[in-house]
Amino acid sequence: MSLQFKKVIVALFALAFLAAVITVGMIEKNRQKPEVAAKVYADEVTRACIDCHDEKHISVNWNRQWEKSRHAEKGIGCIACHQAKEGEPDAWEHEGYLVTHVPTPGDCKQCHEKEFKEFTESHHASATQFIGSLDNVLGEIVEGTPAANMGCRQCHGSTVELDEKGVPLPGSWPNTGIGRVNPDGTKGTCTACHLRHDFSLEQVREPATCGRCHMGPDHPQIEIYEESKHGIAFVAHRDEMNMDQKEWIVGETYTAAPTCATCHMSATPTMERTHDVGDRISWTLRPPVSKKLENWETRRTKMQKVCLECHSKTWVNNFYVMYDGAVNHYNNKFGIPAAEIMEELKRAGKITSTPFDDPIEWIYFELWHHEGRRARMGASMMGPDYTQWHGFYEVAKHFYNKFIPAAEKLQRGVTAKVMSMEEHRWKKGMTKEQIQKTLDYYKGRYNQEIH
Ligand code: HEC
Ligand code: HEC
Ligand code: HEC
Ligand code: HEC
Ligand code: HEC
Ligand code: HEC
Ligand code: HEC
Ligand code: HEC
Repeated sequence: MSLQFKKVIVALFALAFLAAVITVGMIEKNRQKPEVAAKVYADEVTRACIDCHDEKHISVNWNRQWEKSRHAEKGIGCIACHQAKEGEPDAWEHEGYLVTHVPTPGDCKQCHEKEFKEFTESHHASATQFIGSLDNVLGEIVEGTPAANMGCRQCHGSTVELDEKGVPLPGSWPNTGIGRVNPDGTKGTCTACHLRHDFSLEQVREPATCGRCHMGPDHPQIEIYEESKHGIAFVAHRDEMNMDQKEWIVGETYTAAPTCATCHMSATPTMERTHDVGDRISWTLRPPVSKKLENWETRRTKMQKVCLECHSKTWVNNFYVMYDGAVNHYNNKFGIPAAEIMEELKRAGKITSTPFDDPIEWIYFELWHHEGRRARMGASMMGPDYTQWHGFYEVAKHFYNKFIPAAEKLQRGVTAKVMSMEEHRWKKGMTKEQIQKTLDYYKGRYNQEIH
């Protein structure tokens, strides 16, 4: 074989190899190309909204989210929620359509009557009715309106105001507070929990959905949940929760862990889902002294039905006895006595009727509104650190070391009756045996003296 011929062969192989590499490369490249999905349109109007917004690059994220929603699948287009009628205050003339910026529960109601009714009758929907509260004095007067707009009202809700063209005014919107007051007279917003525009069930069942508002020093439900075994089980078994299923029934669709929705809203095999979050709770833990709600037995039975999908009867019954014990104890030892002392100081003219101008009013407020709530809320949802160290410990510390001395300073003897109660007798001195026990403990455990 001539050298020339060999060179040709080698060159041919090289070429064939190159061609193969290029072909494989092209196949691979095509495979990686995302499939160009056909656009979804529910109707002609929706086609106009989507095409123009896509073309002009206006909030295209909402188009993509809507396209993968159950609404798109069912042919519910943009206008189903955004429509406005001639003469309605929120009707905004937009590219030949009358649309609203602010779809409200009134718009969802057309198709979701049951959810609308339950939500509207719940405490959630009336969460802006806090005008007379001490919290409101703090937010609106002591702190000031701009603080309240970006604070209180983002959780509780604003009153949406519009200009003459139907465009919402700053200060009042954007706002997805749970009890928002809408231009059409409806209360609240479904988007407090349901993120648009995919309206995903998986998202709304996440504990974080509720944790946006149910958190912080005065109602730390998300923190309590996360430290509880329920929160731990949820994180550990996230992949067994089937949260994207349409029917989500504890004990059937999932058994691994409860989320906030499980206990307060979602279905059990014998109970329907509810949008009234108060339907299953028996106490209110918010006021200075806790009270049982109207029909509390019925409400409690409903919650226990949820527990019993996972736990045994004795476990659940004993839990409720212990929970009631903690709430009653808080009421009797700290809540009621502190309230009586405040009442007496006010009656005797030692504090004015203007809230928060006397330092003792701040001490008292934190005692029930922060520390006292944490103690009770920790107990209600199995968060022992909130019950103890963020709760009862802080209550006791401030009751004995701040509240009682401050009250005595204002009026000598005003705390005498309270301090003679059996629960507070220890202040007069523990027994020799009790004291010796403490000394022995540190001696035995650390070989240290304790003072
Ligand atoms: C021909 C183009 C076009 C069509 C059709 C169209 N839009 Fe728009 N849309 C725009 C542009 C441009 C903006 C941003 C400027 C503005 O606010 O007017 C916008 C903004 C919006 C906004 C936000 C307004 C704001 O103040 O930020 C909403 C809500 C809206 N469109 C809804 C719709 C709905 C619903 C439809 C279908 C009924 C629709 N649009 C159809 C062009 C269009
Ligand atoms: C199932 C009801 C529903 C459908 C369907 C729907 N929207 Fe909305 N949209 C809402 C709600 C609710 C809001 C938020 C209003 C609020 O809470 O204040 C909103 C807000 C908006 C906003 C303004 C808010 C922002 O973040 O800029 C735009 C723009 C918008 N939608 C466009 C669209 C378009 C385009 C479509 C169709 C592809 C569509 N929407 C379909 C319910 C809907
Ligand atoms: C014109 C009717 C219509 C309107 C208006 C409407 N929806 Fe729907 N929605 C539907 C239909 C139909 C379904 C699918 C029901 C089914 O799968 O059985 C649905 C499903 C849902 C789901 C479940 C989604 C899923 O993945 O299964 C949620 C959540 C929801 N809607 C919330 C809302 C909210 C909030 C509003 C108002 C902002 C609203 N819808 C307005 C008709 C509507
Ligand atoms: C992070 C969200 C958030 C902020 C900010 C917030 N709140 Fe609340 N507020 C809540 C939640 C959640 C509850 C209910 C707690 C519970 O039930 O355990 C609540 C409860 C209340 C209550 C008790 C209602 C009742 O039925 O007893 C009042 C009054 C109140 N808030 C007023 C205010 C005011 C006024 C401000 C501003 C100074 C404010 N809140 C700030 C989320 C918030
Ligand atoms: C406090 C949070 C919250 C608010 C506010 C809220 N939802 Fe829901 N919604 C949920 C949760 C959680 C679920 C899932 C419950 C389940 O099935 O586990 C849900 C489920 C739904 C479903 C699905 C029902 C189905 O067929 O599967 C619809 C529809 C719905 N909500 C409509 C609404 C409407 C309409 C509003 C306003 C009137 C609203 N929601 C307000 C939390 C909320
Ligand atoms: C946007 C803020 C916000 C979100 C999100 C929210 N809540 Fe609330 N929730 C509140 C406020 C504010 C109150 C107190 C209302 C009042 O009494 O005025 C409240 C009260 C409650 C109550 C007491 C009801 C009663 O009748 O006493 C329960 C239980 C509750 N929420 C559970 C939930 C659950 C579960 C979720 C999530 C699925 C959730 N919330 C999401 C703000 C919110
Ligand atoms: C294992 C079930 C369970 C889970 C999970 C759960 N809760 Fe609760 N929750 C309860 C029970 C039980 C009570 C007390 C009911 C009673 O008083 O009868 C309660 C009480 C409440 C209250 C009423 C407080 C008040 O002011 O009176 C709120 C608000 C609340 N939970 C919110 C939440 C939120 C938000 C989450 C998730 C972060 C959550 N819960 C998770 C069982 C649960
Ligand atoms: C979806 C199932 C499920 C539901 C519903 C449920 N739990 Fe649990 N619960 C668990 C799991 C899982 C654990 C952790 C078990 C372990 O320790 O291995 C747990 C643990 C507990 C504990 C022990 C806490 C600790 O610190 O050891 C108590 C108390 C409790 N649950 C009470 C309740 C009550 C009361 C309800 C109803 C309000 C309830 N649970 C609803 C699954 C559930």
